[in-house]
Amino acid sequence: MTKEFWIGDVLAGSHDGLEVELRGWVYRTRGSNKIRFLVLRDSTGTLQCVIKRDIVGDECFDNLSDALIESSIIISGEVKKTDREHGYELEVHSANIVGPVNPDRPFPITESAMSEADGGETEFLLDNRHLYLRTGRMTKMLKIRSTVFGAVHSYFRDREFIEYQAPNFVAGAVEGGSTLFEVPYFGKKAYLTQSWQLYAEAAMPALERLYTIAPSFRAEKSRTRRHLTEFWHAEMEIAWAGNEDVMKHGESLVRSIARSLIDEREQELLELGRDMELIHNYADTSYPRIRYDEAVETLQGKGIEIEWGQDLDYSKEKVLTQDFEVPHFLTHYPRVAKPFYHRPDPEDPKYVLCHDLLAPEGYGEIIGGGERTWSESEILERIDEEDTPREPYEFYIDVRRYGGVPHGGFGMGVDRVCAWLSGADHIRETIPFPRDSRRVTP
Ligand code: 4AD
Ligand code: MG
Repeated sequence: MTKEFWIGDVLAGSHDGLEVELRGWVYRTRGSNKIRFLVLRDSTGTLQCVIKRDIVGDECFDNLSDALIESSIIISGEVKKTDREHGYELEVHSANIVGPVNPDRPFPITESAMSEADGGETEFLLDNRHLYLRTGRMTKMLKIRSTVFGAVHSYFRDREFIEYQAPNFVAGAVEGGSTLFEVPYFGKKAYLTQSWQLYAEAAMPALERLYTIAPSFRAEKSRTRRHLTEFWHAEMEIAWAGNEDVMKHGESLVRSIARSLIDEREQELLELGRDMELIHNYADTSYPRIRYDEAVETLQGKGIEIEWGQDLDYSKEKVLTQDFEVPHFLTHYPRVAKPFYHRPDPEDPKYVLCHDLLAPEGYGEIIGGGERTWSESEILERIDEEDTPREPYEFYIDVRRYGGVPHGGFGMGVDRVCAWLSGADHIRETIPFPRDSRRVTP
């Protein structure tokens, strides 16, 4: 039953003149009573198949003529070179339909259905997400996404990082209470994790270099172009490291993701309309660092209202990053703007030793990280000044009680990186089944 031939290989010229058996789905058909042109789709591309009544016989010809869009078929014939669009086509010798489509329920995603949908095209496609996955744009996006995931694993594994898993049910916040998802937990309250970090820090003295790619959850009420309630989070933690060491990893990771996309997904990116020169620039050029205070001044200079001490929200990052040619690190945020785990700068404890990496073209934050508060006295001071209860964090404080060392790490929003590098308008384009405050189906 194994599939032997792929449309991508046919298009690449590997099977010229050969008899092949292709398996896939009907993308579209047209033709007459004597000859039909069926475009077959598989995961690697689309190929025109030419079906002649006098070659395949009446029964096969009529079956194929009736095959509706997205019927699955096995089709055999000879690969021929043509001057037409794709360069190759299949002269069909025989075919059979494996999974027919019921004529009473034709494939719902059509141009006219999209334009006539009551809730608009976007909602229509989200309602039919399970079927939309098969369309060209989404398929390309999913391949790009796979390359990004692969690049993250390779980056860390090539550098002796250990992949490590943290629980998803947790007792406390990492990134503040306002975006915590509460779940009933056998008569108690638990939360869905916002980040792997605190549990990674517990393993830091055991493994020293660790990473993960896992879902994180944030109860983001507002729907924006860059927020999901469930997103994929690539995180790393490293012992014996300061803010600058962690930033270096963030920069190399993002650049190596861009490099992997150039090597593996140029075609998909071009088909999505991406300017590859930008991606080359993101892979080859180093990323500048600016301090929070400078960013605030720049924004104020552009007439944006911002007070010192505020975190930068999307509207501000968008303005700030509009003119960037490559990602920039923003460092040294005010202590009051960041959660308790960030280490105050010993040179000026008004600030913390942290960084956000802001992607250009208006995309904004893709990485948040920094150096951790690593002594017991400092962490207790930070927890208390935030009025955070100590109890859920006792395990975290213990990491400092037993041989604390300088360490740090970051979290990268994988879906955001996919959106930025693919040039998507909205983060939901990059994930198969996007979750936001209004939607958990399909
Ligand atoms: O900046 P954040 O909140 O940092 C942390 O969670 C740290 N504990 C990470 C660490 O140091 N290990 O989140 C990290 C990144 C953001 O820069 C952003 O890219 C992504 O996670 N992110 C989201 N992506 C999609 N939807 C959301 N709602 C996101 N919230 C954060
Ligand atoms: Mg952040």
